[in-house]
Amino acid sequence: MSRPARALLDAQALRHNLQQVRRHAPRSKVMAVVKANAYGHGLSWAAKILEDVDAFGVASVEEGMELRAAGVTRPICLLEGFFGADEIPLLGRHQLAATIHEQSQLQALESASGAAPIAVWVKIDTGMHRIGFAPEEVPGVLARLKACTAVAEIRVMSHFANADNKFDSTTQSQIERFMPLCQGLEGSLANSAGILAWPDSHLDWVRPGIMLYGASPLIGRHARDLDLMPVMTLQSALIAVHRRRKGEAVGYGGDWLCPEDMTVGVAAVGYGDGYPRHAPPGTPVLVNGRRTPLIGRVSMDMITLDLRAQPEAKVGDPVVLWGTGLPVDEVAAQAGTISYELLCHVAERIPRVPFEGGAVTDTNARTSP
Ligand SMILES: Cc1ncc(COP(=O)(O)O)c(C=O)c1O
Repeated sequence: MSRPARALLDAQALRHNLQQVRRHAPRSKVMAVVKANAYGHGLSWAAKILEDVDAFGVASVEEGMELRAAGVTRPICLLEGFFGADEIPLLGRHQLAATIHEQSQLQALESASGAAPIAVWVKIDTGMHRIGFAPEEVPGVLARLKACTAVAEIRVMSHFANADNKFDSTTQSQIERFMPLCQGLEGSLANSAGILAWPDSHLDWVRPGIMLYGASPLIGRHARDLDLMPVMTLQSALIAVHRRRKGEAVGYGGDWLCPEDMTVGVAAVGYGDGYPRHAPPGTPVLVNGRRTPLIGRVSMDMITLDLRAQPEAKVGDPVVLWGTGLPVDEVAAQAGTISYELLCHVAERIPRVPFEGGAVTDTNARTSP
């Protein structure tokens, strides 16, 4: 038997979450954001399940080419565009659209000769102040792109800074700043939070990421209440169960002391697998489907668990770190981070095991990470 840590990937849940995108934004085209290895779920796997979306959003030419190699024929957009002029011929060859956010990219397109024309998305900074052209630069940028032989279709996009907070006025002002800049071109603003909480932002295209994977993009809202289903369940198993005496220290640093004689379990998962090292004692995991507190420090390959509520637990019993029955958002909040980070950090050494909803029948069926 191999190490029991694995990430189960529920294809039905991914399809269900895409339906939620369409239910909320029925008139918009969908660019499924699958960058960062589809938020840790496996790029090609996710793209295959989401095959009928209108486009995919990735972060690099390499990710775009991986999708093309996997047989994806839908439009693909590089959300940060290209990083050097040398990438432009590759974009043309693989028909990868580029987000243009910077003068140097514009100049590179103007100097590109002979490359197959590519679609571009002009990124506009409507208030996030990360990347994008300032609103007053946009008319000039559009005019230059229209004159460019290396450019096919032109669209415009911006990105929200605070859309996760329904009560923050920044989002409304970003929407208002964006609308007049579309100038008859197709536009896109909404990420997952925009899709769920800001209907005025839906426009021609929406760009869901985290909601596709079943985590909540909104502060104070549970994924379950938003009718989102977790796609990934990170699971492992108990590999040791010990009786410990009152006062004995558990794990690195010895800073967790048994408050009484008790049963302590050890599960085969740790920060080397992407489980957050900063998860504090008390962070919930499921042992045999029952909430069980983490104790001691997270090691590279193991965690220790307080089994006082189920001293009958034994080696081999299933342990769920997040996913079905335990929202990744809850674990992330305990560890002082966000679901995005936990999902993206699931390590390459964790086998991804796809299944079609219901129970997993063959945990040996794997896909590449
Ligand atoms: C440009 C862009 N659009 C859309 C998304 C998807 O965002 P979310 O995962 O919050 O839906 C991202 C993710 O960071 C992004 O960078």
